[in-house]
Amino acid sequence: MPEYTMTTKYLSLQHAMSQGTGKVSVRGWVHRERGSNKLKFIVLRDASSTIQCVFERQNFEKSWEEIDHLQIETSLELTGEIKKDARAPTGYEIAVQSYQLIGPSENYPLTKDQSIEFLADNRHLWLRSRKMTAILKIRSTIFAAIDDYFTKEGFYEYHSPIFQAVQCEGGSELFSVDYFGKKDVFLSQSWQLYAEPAIFALEKIYTIAPSFRAEKSKTSRHLTEYWHAEMEMAWSTFEDIMDHGEQLIKHVVKKVLETNAEELKLLERDVKKLEPVVKKPFVRMTYTEALKILKDKCKMKVEWGKDLRTIEEEKLTHLYDVPIICTRYPKKVKAFYMMEDPKNSEVVLGCDFLAPEGNGEIIGGSQREHDLEKIKNRLREQGEDPAQYGFYLDTRRYGSVPHGGFGLGVERLVKWICGLESIKDAIAFPRTMERYKP
Ligand code: 4AD
Repeated sequence: MPEYTMTTKYLSLQHAMSQGTGKVSVRGWVHRERGSNKLKFIVLRDASSTIQCVFERQNFEKSWEEIDHLQIETSLELTGEIKKDARAPTGYEIAVQSYQLIGPSENYPLTKDQSIEFLADNRHLWLRSRKMTAILKIRSTIFAAIDDYFTKEGFYEYHSPIFQAVQCEGGSELFSVDYFGKKDVFLSQSWQLYAEPAIFALEKIYTIAPSFRAEKSKTSRHLTEYWHAEMEMAWSTFEDIMDHGEQLIKHVVKKVLETNAEELKLLERDVKKLEPVVKKPFVRMTYTEALKILKDKCKMKVEWGKDLRTIEEEKLTHLYDVPIICTRYPKKVKAFYMMEDPKNSEVVLGCDFLAPEGNGEIIGGSQREHDLEKIKNRLREQGEDPAQYGFYLDTRRYGSVPHGGFGLGVERLVKWICGLESIKDAIAFPRTMERYKP
């Protein structure tokens, strides 16, 4: 390999095309290639775009053999004259004057029309596809937008441990870890129980961190490892929690529409379906109202007290062009920490945000129960020993305040915004019940 030095000589393909004429130096990988005895056409790809480059044999007699054999994914640096060309795939073409082969590539295993399994086995290579590149760019915008939303709203970034000794969202979905022979250690399902103690110091906090769920479900919206954007806030009302969730999603969707028009187009995402999310208020309804709507409009009968299943969430979300904030679920289907509704002790001040187009739950949040005795009873009812939660219960012993928070599954948000069939394409290396390699 030739010596590689940091240099500003090279333009990104997008910059080169915006320059439009004259001499440019660019670098990237061979995305496509075809040739004849006299000409070799390659489509060069970099992070920003693709461009057609033409080698004329008469200018490269000595190296023609090498050029003729340039294969998919070979890395190159080249210099040439750029000009508009309506026939070229991205409207520009570079007439190559000199080049340097950086890394050869032979018999690249990915070709057209390969099975989903083959692409998953070769995920490390499939990341280079235009589709995955577009998704990963949108994902990057989403992470940055979440950070700016919370920073602008005065939240501190705060980090909780990933090795945890308590369960937050149900014991059956915990991954246990062999921690030097100790078995009561789990991978985090949520930062929440370690975030609540910190609101007494920082009041408004957020994080984006991995969460782990030993989900046995093989669905298009479950991963075993996902990125979880969570917030927790002291002195909040239930309305504050829902308002932040709504404003956060509006902010993220707006940022993606402003930043990633090109990527959304490449993914053939109908942006008209995202525009109402920015402009219109979200639909708010209680669980009990949701059951009535399901019965009247979708002819689906759900017994009061049963949690909404994926199919029911799907049907509901097809009725609206903005997310639904569904509130006040039956106490027995929700986590122990959710606050009882002061007006109806059968339900909790919890909310799920259901994304349109059949996407379903993307946020789960609640006002927290801040009464020590009530929370101990809820733990016992759910088969937990309050003694294991000593550190957590101290948050209710020393200056407890009304508070609440939510968790947003970032891959679910990416899946919805990008219009993906499966959550697996919302992350570079998806982890599911069946796949943990490569
Ligand atoms: O509703 P969940 O379980 O809520 C909590 O974990 C709360 N402790 C959050 C909080 O209040 N701080 O999970 C929150 C979100 C879900 O709405 C969903 O978007 C995502 O996490 N999620 C998953 N995403 C991908 N794969 C899975 N297996 C997921 N499980 C939950």
